[in-house]
Formats: sequence, structure tokens, C-alpha cells
Amino acid sequence: MADFDATESLKAAANPFRVIDPEKIPASRFYDEEFFNLEAEHMWSRTWQMACRLETIPEIGDWVEYTILGKSVIVVNTKDGVKAHHNHCRHRGVPIAGGHGNDRGNCAKTGFICPFHGWRWNMEGDCTFVYGKQLFNQDLLEAEDLKLRSVRCETWGGCAYINLDDNALSYVETMGSALDGLDARGIGNLRAEWWYGTVLPANWKIAMEAFQEGYHVMKTHPQLQQATPVLYNSRYGNDTGGQGPAINPDMSARDNILSQFAQFELLSEGMAGLVHAKELEIARQCLDVELPDDPAVAVPMWFGLVMDEVTKQLRARGENIPDIREAATKYPLDALQFNFPNSFVLVFFSGMTSYRVRPLTPETCLFEIWSLTNFPEGQEPDPVLEPIMLPYDSKEFPKIPQQDYSNIPIQQKGMHSQGFEYMRLSRVREGLISNNHRVIDGFIAGHSHARLAPAIQQLSLNFDGPILEFDL
Ligand code: FES
Ligand SMILES: [Fe+2]
Repeated sequence: MADFDATESLKAAANPFRVIDPEKIPASRFYDEEFFNLEAEHMWSRTWQMACRLETIPEIGDWVEYTILGKSVIVVNTKDGVKAHHNHCRHRGVPIAGGHGNDRGNCAKTGFICPFHGWRWNMEGDCTFVYGKQLFNQDLLEAEDLKLRSVRCETWGGCAYINLDDNALSYVETMGSALDGLDARGIGNLRAEWWYGTVLPANWKIAMEAFQEGYHVMKTHPQLQQATPVLYNSRYGNDTGGQGPAINPDMSARDNILSQFAQFELLSEGMAGLVHAKELEIARQCLDVELPDDPAVAVPMWFGLVMDEVTKQLRARGENIPDIREAATKYPLDALQFNFPNSFVLVFFSGMTSYRVRPLTPETCLFEIWSLTNFPEGQEPDPVLEPIMLPYDSKEFPKIPQQDYSNIPIQQKGMHSQGFEYMRLSRVREGLISNNHRVIDGFIAGHSHARLAPAIQQLSLNFDGPILEFDL
């Protein structure tokens, strides 16, 4: 292809499903098997993916299996850091860990033992035992060749990331300065309080896109809209809103603040760690503080006060948290940070909720949520090792994801409806959806990592943002 430079991959694929008009996303991208295979071959095989939270592998020898589209990777904590190996026996290919192999357990002493003929590997991936060596041509048993095949693995922000492409840029180079705001908010110190999973009957992108704009709040989360209508109406109703607290000039300062607090309560009840109960309590204490009468002055002051009190009081309990106001001022974050291709975090004060979506089939995906918060050193709970798997319509999910999940399966059905050719997107508020699709197309077009990384970085803070121009 003429516009490829010498560093571009030779694996460019014909993509009959590509987005041609950025405001129109073809419906077939959400169910067609051929497009699903293009994503698998050209995007999932070359992109960084959150493989596990580090607290699930705290000891040397702890490991977890990460799976993506039939590929299985072992992520293991070794004395030289976290490493990843492809999960297959070098003899006849049986997975040596996970659902089809050993029981979950620390491998420091035993290593990984193939369940078929008992060959063994240590955590570094060296083969340590071959039963009946003399039966084999010794050329087949060279140490280097028997090593487990390694997978790119890096740790950042409390998680291990893997990439199946040996030629990828590092995770930090790929994400660039997009990581700075989460770093400043101390994401690496957070621990999971709970972890839920569900299988949604929808394409993985449909599931993710339910979280890629706030335009759905009015109808999907009416309780949030009702608590602070000015926030949502100014952003979606007449499009005058910006970042920061929205203020209703027709209400007193006190009533404005009470409506902000009502929003915190709903977020706390509806999404746990997003506004943690301990932060809600601190915000409640701040309700009685004397503030100026002008709501335009009082509301931002009150927000600053709550951030300062959360910082002060949680630090006094021994939590290692940054100055929340300083972090929020230096790195303003609009509700959500998206990390291409399939994870995102919602941020409010000191805690976060973290999400990961993985395709299973063209029309099903695995959707996971973690509620993350800080704990004083030495008081961290036992790590949550497995998600609680619930049916997608379970009433046990917090209220906000319950509401989001209610749309996702029916939207998937709509993709097949006769005459529905494409989604039409708002160019100013639903840009992230379009931009994400076009970066996927950039992978399918075989662009180099160096060319893809700037677009990936632009996506991170693109929540509720516009359709962007990419050099892809
Ligand atoms: S397949 Fe693993 S030891 Fe034979
Ligand atoms: Fe939502």
C-alpha cells in the first residue's frame, strides 16, 4: 500500500468493514465473524492487555492464567519480576497451567507440571524435567528449545499487562503521558475490594461503548440525572457544560451543594468504590461548613474542601494517598479514563472502579468490574483471586452497572434488525466510540506501533469528547 512507510507491518489486511464516515459505524462490525477474526488476527495479537492485578500474585511463584480468544498465557511472579509464558507444553502442546492443567497454586517449589506425561518447567520457563529422556532424539531436547515461549509482560499501576507481539513498543511508550493522571492519583496503591464478572450476550465493543459516553445518563440512570440535572443538561441538553462541578444559578449555594452530595450518595450506593462510603462520610461532615452565598463561588470551594478533607482524613488513617486536589487540578479527568483496547477506570476522589471487557465470540463477551480503594499498610484485605460470576441480569450487581447491563443485550439484537445499517454518532459527545473503532481499523490496516501509539494516547482522555482526526 502506497502510504506505508518501511516500518509498517506487511500484514495489512483487506477490511471490508472499515469505518469510512467517522459518524457512521457499520452494524456488521458488531456481529460479523469475518470482522471478529480480523480483530483477533491484527489487533488482539498486537495490543497491550491488562492480564491481572498484581495483588493476585503477591508471592514469588504465584501465577495466574490469562486467556484471550483461545490463546492462554501464564503470568508468574518470579524473583526477577513478573514474567509471562505461552501456556503450552513443549512436548505435545498441552496447557501446563490453568483450567486444563495443574490446580491453581504457587509454583515456586513444584514448577509447572504437564498433566499428560509430567514434563516440568520452573517459573522462569526453563524445562527442569523430561521423563524418559533417552527415548527422544537429543536434538529435540535442547534447553533453549524446551524453554516456555515467552510473552511480553510489563507491570504498571498495580496490574500486569501482556502483549502477544514481540515487536510492540513498551506499555509505557504506547500509553505515553496518558498514564500521568492515573499515576498522580496513586492508582498503583489501590487494592480490590471486590471483583465481579458476567458474560454479556453482546459484542465486546457494544458492551464497552455503553461506558464511552455520559449521554445515556438521562434515560439509563435517571436517578443521577434527577440529582444534578444541571450537570447533565448543560452537557447534553444544550451542550454548554465543561469540566468541573455544574452549578444551578437559580438555586442557593446550599441547595447546589446538597444536590452535589445527593449525587455522591447515588454514586456510592450505585457503584461502590467510585465514591467510597468512607469518602461519602467525609463529604457529609463538610455539609455544615460556612460558605459564600454565591453558588458559583461556593460550589467549587466546597468541592476543594471535600478533596482536602478526604486527603487529610484518609492519610490520618494511614492510607498512602496523594493530594487529591493537587492531582485533580494538575490532571483534570472527565469521569473516565479509557485504556485502549478494552479497559477503563472511573475516578472520583481517591478510589476507582476498574473495568475490563474481553471478546468470547462475535456476540458474547466477558465483562469484569473491580472496586478499588486504599488501605493502610498492613491492613490490606486478602486479595480477591477470582471474580464473583453472576448472570448479567442479576440484582446483586450494584445499581449503576445493572442499569447499563440492561441496554447492552437488547442493543446487540438491534444490530441485526433489517434496515439498520450503521450507528449514527454525535460528533461532539460520542467521539470516543468512533475513534476507538478507527484505531482498531488502524491495527487491521497493519500500521506500525509507532504510528498507532499517538492515536491510542489521544483516546485515553477522550470520554464524551469529539471525533478526532488520526494519521491512520
Ligand atoms: S504433552 Fe506435556 S509432557 Fe507430554
Ligand atoms: Fe452508565
